[in-house]
Amino acid sequence: MPRAHVTLDRQSVVAPVRRRTFGSFVEHLGRCVYSGIHEPGHPTANEDGFRMDVVDLVRELGSTTVRYPGGNFVSGFRWEDSVGPREQRPVRRDLAWHSLESNQVGLDEFARWLRLTDSELMLAVNIATRGILSALDLLEYANHPSGTALSDQRVANGSPEPHNVRMWCLGNEMDGPWQTGFMTADDYGKLAARTAAAMKAADKDLELVVCGSSGSGMPTFGDWERTVLEHSYEHVDYISCHAYYQEHDGDLRSFLASAVDMDYFIDTVVATADHVGYKKRSEKKINISFDEWNVWYLTRHQESGEGRGEWTHAPRLLEDTYTVADAVVVGNLLMTLLKRSDRVTSASLAQLVNVIAPIMTEPGGPAWRQTTFHPFAITSRLATGEVLRPVIDAPVHRTARHGEASLVDAVATADEGRAAVFLVNRDLAEPAQVTVDVRSLGLSRVVEALTLADPDVYAKNTLAEPNRVAPATNPTATLADGVLTVELPPVSWSAIALH
Ligand code: AHR
Repeated sequence: MPRAHVTLDRQSVVAPVRRRTFGSFVEHLGRCVYSGIHEPGHPTANEDGFRMDVVDLVRELGSTTVRYPGGNFVSGFRWEDSVGPREQRPVRRDLAWHSLESNQVGLDEFARWLRLTDSELMLAVNIATRGILSALDLLEYANHPSGTALSDQRVANGSPEPHNVRMWCLGNEMDGPWQTGFMTADDYGKLAARTAAAMKAADKDLELVVCGSSGSGMPTFGDWERTVLEHSYEHVDYISCHAYYQEHDGDLRSFLASAVDMDYFIDTVVATADHVGYKKRSEKKINISFDEWNVWYLTRHQESGEGRGEWTHAPRLLEDTYTVADAVVVGNLLMTLLKRSDRVTSASLAQLVNVIAPIMTEPGGPAWRQTTFHPFAITSRLATGEVLRPVIDAPVHRTARHGEASLVDAVATADEGRAAVFLVNRDLAEPAQVTVDVRSLGLSRVVEALTLADPDVYAKNTLAEPNRVAPATNPTATLADGVLTVELPPVSWSAIALH
């Protein structure tokens, strides 16, 4: 049985646990909004038409910030369409997802939904096709208290208090040829700088996210970040990273090492941002908003031809059903985001409901947890205080896509009188025997030990069998003389809470 040893030092702190690491994403895409979070007439719907069964699951998931309303959707969006009396809101074509948008849910309704779920709004503005003035108008509508044309309109629309949105994305994936209004890095960098400067003239404390590459595989990756930041460095606060992973051609070993790639991606973007900062002799550091990350079987959707037929409202799009292996990868990606909390200070699991999501719904029927729900919810619940930098001594294996990967990965958080250790075993066949030196934490009891694993790594939760996969107590976890010992099944994710 492979063995691994992890050493934790209470003094070796990466950064505080950032609550925004547990953000998510609601896009007007497929059934994320309509028949996802919003379904008037559903037995659990409230007076706004929001499904309260979904609200309950979102609260259990522990998602913090929610990025909205896109995504690719945002680049064709006129925000004014989605406010005011519902019966007067126009139906529009959404070119990004080849769908009809009814605008029955807009900013004011969504802000009310966020209050139900206790979440913070992160708003994306359409600078791709609508430019600076539209961004300023939306800012005035959303955040100005009252006494101006647009803030008074918000008040008249039933939102007397400003929405007070702090984080704003300056467009979405502007390097992607699929993006309505895509641009060169030079053009986008200049526009983002001007938009950011204007928005900060209205409110200097806004936190602005400039678009990085839509993925590290883009041919312009690296150059894009450098050029965009050369233009916008002093005006923005974050650069975005987006990464989606999937198992390619049955190569589960590589897939399970996806977090290695994410870590390398973060390193590269941090280095590029700091390079620009040093050149500018700036004292400021640009942090990362990892505002789209997940497992997404993108190639399957591309091959299926979905989203290319009739123009319909809320079609079923990107409805991936996740496996145990997918959940292990999601749990491991979240561990990486925690490990990089020094520079990744905000993140959004893409997305929240139905569309590559931890929560699924059936119209008129139930809502349920996908496999990926569990590691996210448990980590959000247990990770508090500070992130500790683990020293991991474990066997390493080679993967075809991501080079060398440790068989066992780990991260830990520590707070007053408690700590949590998160572990992954990437071995396809063997359990791993892990010891964790926790002497410096001064804790003596295992209070919870949960493992997500299954003899069938492709087991899923479905409408017919919504609880097929769930975490189970790991009875092997013991703590004696400051050493935590646990056995991790093959292809597994675990969380152990200590008091
Ligand atoms: O999350 C799905 C899509 O992925 C988003 O709309 C886009 O930003 C990305 O390409």
